[in-house]
Amino acid sequence: MALRNIREIGEDCLTKSCKEVKEMTPRLRELIEDMLDTMYEANGVGLAAPQVGILKRVVVIDVTGEDPYVLINPKIIETSGEQTGQEGCLSVPGKCGIVTRPNYVKAAALDIDMKPYELEGTELLARAIVHELEHLDGHLYVEKVQGGLKNVEPADESEEE
Ligand code: NI
Repeated sequence: MALRNIREIGEDCLTKSCKEVKEMTPRLRELIEDMLDTMYEANGVGLAAPQVGILKRVVVIDVTGEDPYVLINPKIIETSGEQTGQEGCLSVPGKCGIVTRPNYVKAAALDIDMKPYELEGTELLARAIVHELEHLDGHLYVEKVQGGLKNVEPADESEEE
């Protein structure tokens, strides 16, 4: 298990557009394994490569703790509905805010073996997909917060993405 440093708001790597992945390499596989370890260690439900300083279009998501998805070069191909709720980000520690997102999302991506697949989600999974994909274009949820950022209460078990 190898943990990577999670970069925080204000760092340049979180504002850049990331590059497409062309091929799987041992180094990239290691990055993905480290991203999963880092996400679980931080009790997050998603992590994007730029959050560990790597400007590649790679995202990991697991909203249940036992169902990890790896999304390489992901694209959103369908959305519907709307949900408004609390969101956080491992790159914005101690904060959360209300963000409106689609309630259903379908994304197309490559898996860790570079095979194409589609991932569909509603509610938290839909929110996580949209949130993580925005990281790949240098955007943070704080740009979309309604009513300002709030401090996370110590007892609050809000999900961080
Ligand atoms: Ni985030």
